[in-house]
Amino acid sequence: MSYETILTEKRGAVTLITLNRPQALNALSSVVLDELIEAFAAFEADDSQRCAVLTGSGEKAFAAGADIKEMSDKQAADFYLEDFFSKWTSHLVKAVRKPWIAAVNGFALGGGCELAMMADFIIASDQAKFGQPEIKLGVAPGMGGSQRLTRAVGKSKAMEMCLTGRMMGAEEAERSNLVARVVPHDELMTEAMKTATTIASMPPMAAMVNKEMVNSAFETGLDQGVALERRLFQILTASEDKAEGMAAFIEKREGKWQGR
Ligand code: CAA
Repeated sequence: MSYETILTEKRGAVTLITLNRPQALNALSSVVLDELIEAFAAFEADDSQRCAVLTGSGEKAFAAGADIKEMSDKQAADFYLEDFFSKWTSHLVKAVRKPWIAAVNGFALGGGCELAMMADFIIASDQAKFGQPEIKLGVAPGMGGSQRLTRAVGKSKAMEMCLTGRMMGAEEAERSNLVARVVPHDELMTEAMKTATTIASMPPMAAMVNKEMVNSAFETGLDQGVALERRLFQILTASEDKAEGMAAFIEKREGKWQGR
C-alpha cells in the first residue's frame, strides 16, 4: 500500500510507520490522519504483525503539530461539524489493541506531542522536544494533550507547559515520566525496533491483555481496575499460550506462540 504523507514497512513482525512530510516538519494534516488511520487498521488486521513503531522523517521533527496552514481558514462551525480531531482517539487509541511505540526523533509539539502520547509508550532521542504551544496560536490542545500530559507529568508541569508553550527536552521528559527511555539520537530507531521486536516475540494475546490492563488504570478506580486485571488474568490462564509458556519454562526452551 502506498501513501502520500506516510511510509509503512513491515520488518518481520514489526510495522514501521513514518510520518513523511519533512518539509512541513511532519505537520498532521487531515490527509496524514486519514492515512494513519488506514495504516494502523492494516497493522491491526494483519496477524503477522505484532507491534508497531511510529516515527517522523527528517532530522528535526516527529511532528510539529496539527497543520496550522490547514486550520487557519477553518471556522468554528467547520471544526464543530466535522468533529475535528475526534477520529484520532477513536482510531489510533481505542481501535488499536496491539502494542505500538512512538519513537520521537525531534519536535513533538501540539498534536505531535498528543500523537506521541497516544502510543503505548515513548522512546525519545536525546534531541527530542515536547510541548503544547497551542496557546501561542490563540487555541489550546485539541487531541487529548491537556488530559494525557497532565496524567503523565502531573498538574504543575502540564499547566506550566500549556500556559507558557515552553518545550521540554528529552532528559526532563524522562525525569517527568513522559517518556519510557531516552537514547542517543543516532541509536533511536535501532533501540525502538529492538524494543518492538522484543514485544513482538511475546505471546500476542498476552501482549494485548497487558496493554488493556495498564490502559484501564487511566479509566477506572483502583478497585475496578484490580478486578478487571484479575478477570483478564483468569481468562489468559485458559489460553494455549499460557500452557505453552509455562511448559516451555519448565522444559527450559523458548515458547512457540499460537496467539490464542
Ligand atoms: N503546521 C504547518 N506547517 C508547519 C507546522 C505546523 N504545525 N510546523 C512547522 N511547519 C512548517 C513551517 O511553516 C515551515 O514551512 P515553510 O518552509 O513553508 O515556511 C516548515 O514547517 C519549517 O518550519 P520552521 O521554518 O518554522 O522551522 P524552525 O526550525 O524555524 O522552527 C518550530 C521549528 C519551532 C517547530 C516551528 O516550526 C513551530 O513553532 N511550529 C509550530 C508548532 C506549533 O505551534 N504546533 C501546534 C500546532 S496546533 C495543534 O497541534 C492543535 C492541536 O492540539 C491538535
